[in-house]
Amino acid sequence: MKYPPSNYPVATGVITLYFLLMKLTPKQIEQLKGRIIAIDGPAGAGKTTTATLVAEQIHFTYLDTGAMYRAITVVALQKGISPSDADVLTQIAQSCDLQFEIKQSVNHVIINGQDVTKEIRTPDVTSHVSEVSAHVGVREVMVALQKTMSENGSVVAEGRDTTTVVFPKADLKVYLDASVEQRAQRRVKDMVAMGIQTTLEEQIADIERRDAYDSGRAHSPLTKAEDAHVVDTSNLTIEGQVDRIIELALENIR
Ligand code: DC
Repeated sequence: MKYPPSNYPVATGVITLYFLLMKLTPKQIEQLKGRIIAIDGPAGAGKTTTATLVAEQIHFTYLDTGAMYRAITVVALQKGISPSDADVLTQIAQSCDLQFEIKQSVNHVIINGQDVTKEIRTPDVTSHVSEVSAHVGVREVMVALQKTMSENGSVVAEGRDTTTVVFPKADLKVYLDASVEQRAQRRVKDMVAMGIQTTLEEQIADIERRDAYDSGRAHSPLTKAEDAHVVDTSNLTIEGQVDRIIELALENIR
């Protein structure tokens, strides 16, 4: 046989396309199977998009813990309950039926039979969720539920305390970070795409307020776990962020 063979460009093209689409070999997917990858970081660091894509590529379940606190906030606002009312909010968390359901590749959040996928992203919910999520009673219920949902492994979880409190023994811990300016710019883009008017200044102020709240609260504040790998996404594309996390997973999970 001549080398390179005459079908070399075609074969190379097919292999390149395979890796572009699959990214991982079946052996690498098997290597990661059953494990837990936990990703924490501040608002707007790109956790949701990155974790969703990582989970998709390695055939894991995506666990959006922030969406769970957001769903409790939706119910509280609908019932006219103050975000500072720890007792009632804890009761809501204890008695709720909270589930995730994938429909047409979209991760839907269902609470008490109500699909709140859109409602959890409204500015009203975003501005109250930090206060709701700071109550220890609410956190205890959510953390227990997050552990139960992940019993079988093969999970990519993301939030503020997944590397420290929920999965202290996660197989890979990542702290995703980016500058306030970059995070605010991404939020503006997301909100404009949702048809919501906002400015960069408003989003910088909101992100700084949420950072202070999430990092300064008494229970499970946002902190970088000692053994977490820091990935700064300020100058990374989404694809770059996903690739970096998969690379870290393959290097650290054996
Ligand atoms: O990641 P997010 O913006 O959807 O999170 C919404 C809020 O929930 C955020 O203000 C902090 C809180 N949160 C938390 O306290 N613990 C988590 N594990 C995830 C989110």
